[in-house]
Amino acid sequence: MKALIVGSRGQVGHALLASCPEGIVAVGRDMPELDITDEVAVRSALDAVRPDILLNVAAYTAVDRAEAEEADARRVNATAVGVLAVEARRVGARLVHVSTDFVFDGTVGRPYAPDATPRPLSVYGRTKWEGERLAGENALIVRTAWVYGPVGHNFVRTMLRLFATKPEVGVVADQIGTPTYAPGLAAALWSLALRGERGIHHFTDSGVASWYDFAVAIQEEALALGLLAQAVPIIPMATVDYPTPAIRPAYSVLDKQATFTALGGAAPHWRVRLRHMLKEIQSHG
Ligand SMILES: NC(=O)c1ccc[n+]([C@@H]2O[C@H](COP(=O)([O-])OP(=O)(O)OC[C@H]3O[C@@H](n4cnc5c(N)ncnc54)[C@H](OP(=O)(O)O)[C@@H]3O)[C@@H](O)[C@H]2O)c1
Repeated sequence: MKALIVGSRGQVGHALLASCPEGIVAVGRDMPELDITDEVAVRSALDAVRPDILLNVAAYTAVDRAEAEEADARRVNATAVGVLAVEARRVGARLVHVSTDFVFDGTVGRPYAPDATPRPLSVYGRTKWEGERLAGENALIVRTAWVYGPVGHNFVRTMLRLFATKPEVGVVADQIGTPTYAPGLAAALWSLALRGERGIHHFTDSGVASWYDFAVAIQEEALALGLLAQAVPIIPMATVDYPTPAIRPAYSVLDKQATFTALGGAAPHWRVRLRHMLKEIQSHG
């Protein structure tokens, strides 16, 4: 069995390649060798690889920049997904597409089920929702949230840098979600794909946190492992005092019950995963 991973040098793409199950030949493509907005290039990549599974983890993920670059975000997050869906069908591949909790507005105050109605607040969320619809009913769509891993830009790596260089760090305390460790997400994607799941699934690690809680946990765990020399004050901030171009949902926890049942168990708590990632950094730098 062959799998083509597009966006393979991103956080999730890297983790997918690293955890490719036995018996599957995984081929990774990313910019600049494959731009998923280039229809001709996508067609020839699929003709060359002839995958059974096409995993799309390429995306325009700069949430704030997307507000000023809507057309660019739409080309990658929506239009290109439609092309991937058509091309996957043409070569008989199953499309696996990753989406986001930012399709929701975060106002209901309880976890969102996969069939809850999206109401995105940002260009990023809106274009990702368009992409979900263009992926089509035969695709497996996995919404996730707050992804971090040993590779790429993410909140954990940013906090570690700030804790080591700033006298204090302010972090928003009124946006609630769930951190998700990229290698755990990758394992879930492989498992759901190989089971032939279709439709919308939700997957994050277990538990709930604010960005502030997450930051405090990062500092505590990093201190315990000797990755930081000393603690700095972490100041809880309100979103209104930290304006960003894109509006983010206040409470975007996803209801994962159906996915956890399909996977045969719940994902570990986010703090367990965080400790794991920091131990990886401790041993490999
Ligand atoms: N990160 C999160 O917190 C989060 C949360 C919820 C959902 N998601 C979703 O999870 C998926 C994976 O996210 P991630 O965190 O792994 O993102 P990432 O680290 O930003 O990786 C995305 C990859 O896609 C590539 N890419 C961008 N435009 C492309 C194009 N036109 N053609 C081919 N490749 C292109 C990027 O290359 P460049 O770096 O060169 O642009 C990058 O290597 C995305 O669908 C994202 O929307 C992420």
